Amino acid sequence: MTSPLVRPDLRWMASFVEAMREGYSRDNLRAETPQTIEAIAAEPEAFVRQLLTPPTTIVLPDGSLGERVPETHFWAVDGDRFLGSVGVRHRLNDMLATWGGHIGYAVRPSARGQGVASAMLAGALAWCRETLPLDRVMLTVAEDNLASRRVIEKNGGVLEQIIPHLWVEGALGRRYWIDLR
Ligand SMILES: CC(C)(COP(=O)(O)OP(=O)(O)OC[C@H]1O[C@@H](n2cnc3c(N)ncnc32)[C@H](O)[C@@H]1OP(=O)(O)O)[C@@H](O)C(=O)NCCC(=O)NCCS
Repeated sequence: MTSPLVRPDLRWMASFVEAMREGYSRDNLRAETPQTIEAIAAEPEAFVRQLLTPPTTIVLPDGSLGERVPETHFWAVDGDRFLGSVGVRHRLNDMLATWGGHIGYAVRPSARGQGVASAMLAGALAWCRETLPLDRVMLTVAEDNLASRRVIEKNGGVLEQIIPHLWVEGALGRRYWIDLR
């Protein structure tokens, strides 16, 4: 049974590492490697600390350094088992307004198809309503990511536009908005 969203904590780090070994990735454009997984497994406290207090820069998918806007991370868990993650960016910058949006999520492969992403997005939207001074949030998704499109549409996402994928040449994406008020 999935619990309400929790903040990242050491309690779930063994399961988080197991999820990465299973194919969960923190970034859906970049798969984890044995090196990235081992680096996190070696210093779980530092990893959790960084999720709770994110740095102000981010390495972008093309390897360049960009601005990391303020963000809050949540996890979906089942007892001691990590199931998936959802991150809320408190505002957009020019790049995120083009691709990325306010909210991103991922579910470990063995927990997919059970409503985890839908519940995480619903929980993140509730948190946004209570916490952020936003009237609506934006989400982007690759055109061929049918499961994620469904998750967004089930949560009230309204398609604004089909757009070029910022990071995958030749691919298309969808920009959705979800009203919070
Ligand atoms: C996309 C992702 C988050 C979905 O997580 P999930 O927990 O399996 O999603 P849910 O179970 O909440 O819902 C998936 C929905 O998509 C539907 N779906 C799944 N595969 C589908 C497909 N190929 N075509 C159409 N619908 C599909 C499911 O039936 C379900 O809809 P339903 O509740 O109406 O039956 C997960 O596959 C994932 O982590 N992928 C890698 C990272 C990623 O793509 N993140 C999103 C980036 S925008």
